[in-house]
Amino acid sequence: MAFPEDRMRDKRITEETRRKYRETGELSPKDLVMPIFVKEGISKKNEISSMPGIYQFPFEDVAAEAQRILDAGVPAVILFGIPEKKDETGSGSYAENGVVQKAIRIIKEKVPEITVIGDVCMCEYTSHGHCGILNKSESRGRESEYIVDNDATIEILGKIAVSYAKAGADIVAPSAMMDGQVKAIKDALTVNVYPDVKIMSYSAKYASAFYGPFRDAAESPPRFGDRRTYQMDHYNSDEAILESAMDIEEGADILMVKPALAYQDIICRLKKELNFPLACYSVSGEYAMFKAAAAKGYLNEEKVVLESLVGLKRAGADTIITYYAVEAAKWLTK
Ligand code: PBG
Repeated sequence: MAFPEDRMRDKRITEETRRKYRETGELSPKDLVMPIFVKEGISKKNEISSMPGIYQFPFEDVAAEAQRILDAGVPAVILFGIPEKKDETGSGSYAENGVVQKAIRIIKEKVPEITVIGDVCMCEYTSHGHCGILNKSESRGRESEYIVDNDATIEILGKIAVSYAKAGADIVAPSAMMDGQVKAIKDALTVNVYPDVKIMSYSAKYASAFYGPFRDAAESPPRFGDRRTYQMDHYNSDEAILESAMDIEEGADILMVKPALAYQDIICRLKKELNFPLACYSVSGEYAMFKAAAAKGYLNEEKVVLESLVGLKRAGADTIITYYAVEAAKWLTK
């Protein structure tokens, strides 16, 4: 280090010195992923009231939205579908002509350069809103009467992943937090000969109140109970390391921490301890908080958002999924 330790301020004296001594690489639009919600049966986009600037899109608008994202310099999208009909077993989730499958085909045809990630879960497709198949006997006397049947669910997650791969997805992202889900998907992709499709596992996904606005956007709140029997307890961090290490064993290509801002310690530990490609998901509630404060004029939106994204990168995230992706890309390149 060129500066004596008692002259720390010398590093901060000009923009040039500050840049010279930066420890984290410059935040780039290339680090970002933008979510897209696609809704069946609508003809005009709907704004999500708790997430100003974020919409549910009809199929007709999906290609233009992907193009807008790519034009801003953001290289990837993650897709969520809202089907017209839901059922007990979430059968729409793996339908050949399901919402996400159709959206993938549209984007791959019209905007082939963009990386397409499909979120693999059942909560948008089940009438009860849980992330898998429910089974009464599985509860085995535990607190809730109905519990998600892990092994029946991972079989379906495999089918969803294959249907996305068939439609042209580059990456599948299982978010159901079922045990063995990465292996089930890996096996299904291998058997169906899609070895190039990558798996981005929501490996450390916490049961979080920060998902509130998403459940409006994806119309997927659980009709009863909550997700604490499958998503992680936010008091834990060793468990995140273990879950993620298991996912690597099972064949994950990229790990993920979700939510992001309240879990930077997890991002940091995972990067240090496992040194594996790592994404984080700055979720709907995080976006909603920034938007609400900015609308009141309480914060400089651009500055706080970029500072937060840099914080996630500094913590160790290689990739950041954020509803701010396009806005941040514009701020970064202006
Ligand atoms: C599906 C899923 C959720 C989110 C991403 N995938 C909701 C949940 O688990 O309840 C949340 C994303 C966000 O809040 O932005 N399981």
